[in-house]
Amino acid sequence: MIDRSALMATYAEPPVTFVRGEGSWLFDDHGHRYLDFLCGLAVTSLGHARPEISEAICTQAATLSHVSNLFGNELGPQAASLINDLVSQAAGSDGQVFFGNSGAEANECALKLARRVAPGRHLVVTTLESFHGRTLATLTATGQPSKHQAFEPLPTGFTYVPFGDLDAARRALESLEVAAVLVEVIQAEGGVNVPPRGYLPALEAACREAGALFMVDEIQSGMARTGSWFAFEDEGLTPDVVTMAKALGSGMPVGACWARSEVAAAFKPGDHGSTFGGQPLAMSAVLATLQTMAALDAPRLATEASERLVAGLMRLDGVVGVRGRGLLLGAVLDKPISGEVVATALKNGLIVNAVRPDTIRITPPLTVSAEEIDEALSRLESALRSVKSAEVVS
Ligand SMILES: Cc1ncc(COP(=O)(O)O)c(C=O)c1O
Repeated sequence: MIDRSALMATYAEPPVTFVRGEGSWLFDDHGHRYLDFLCGLAVTSLGHARPEISEAICTQAATLSHVSNLFGNELGPQAASLINDLVSQAAGSDGQVFFGNSGAEANECALKLARRVAPGRHLVVTTLESFHGRTLATLTATGQPSKHQAFEPLPTGFTYVPFGDLDAARRALESLEVAAVLVEVIQAEGGVNVPPRGYLPALEAACREAGALFMVDEIQSGMARTGSWFAFEDEGLTPDVVTMAKALGSGMPVGACWARSEVAAAFKPGDHGSTFGGQPLAMSAVLATLQTMAALDAPRLATEASERLVAGLMRLDGVVGVRGRGLLLGAVLDKPISGEVVATALKNGLIVNAVRPDTIRITPPLTVSAEEIDEALSRLESALRSVKSAEVVS
């Protein structure tokens, strides 16, 4: 038993301690193996210990791990250029990238940029049930009042509208103080919520009309997870700002904020920064991740695996629907028993998590095999069956 008493109690006591990972599998400190259908919350999208990534990180660590942002390094500009290639193809305009170390920092950059672009306009509109991070500003941007209460008074400058409610967004945009709308294309932490078709393009159009920036948070949905490099592509959006993190470094802490050139130009030297942002070690992971994803055609992998997984989930007794896209999925149960099912699945060697009382989030690696999908479905089926039969007995 590991003594965790020196750690702040910000996380619940973990049920398992992992010591090793390989592909879609994790191994605990007792030698048990688990199918990882969560991927550290959509982070290890190429599986654990992917050789291309570990080799790149090890080589870079032995060459040059850090230089301050007072000086240049060769990898940051290359990684930014690859990200710009991916985003600009879909968003239709060139842009620049700022690197931080997490999703929250990517969003912080977006929030500061919004204020810098439009002096005098300081409000950012976000959606209820959204999740944008845990720093004070990104926590406030997060549209979940239950997460706010303990930390009041919060920074000012945010206003919330229901996800999918276009009229509410249009009303919020009537204020001349609105600098930007920040929205997830698919709300991940909030329950894997997909908005009604047409909502996001109309929201973008409303932003254009109001002179506000349209910023999308692709921190969880990006990097091929939904079957496109970015989920906004499926909606035909052309955002001004795109934030990403999670799978971007395959587990190396890194977040990035891309902005269209005219928007990015608002930042001047000294406006923003981060000691570790864009440092060579994390950048080596970003380069290896993006190159490997491109070589594997990761969006296609996600789409193909999704077909088998969604069809299999829909056949399970107790699953009444599946929300999401690609491999960002929420299995909807006929009863609010997701917590029990997730705990039982873990005992059966399957890692998934509960995002709502009736919804289980499933985000396997994009490289998952057909056999692993079938095995995960069988472990989930057995967890569902045992929770339901325990309910009948009690
Ligand atoms: C959509 C979204 N935005 C932002 C974040 C915050 O990212 P991080 O935990 O890396 O700060 C998350 C994390 O779950 C997320 O899912």
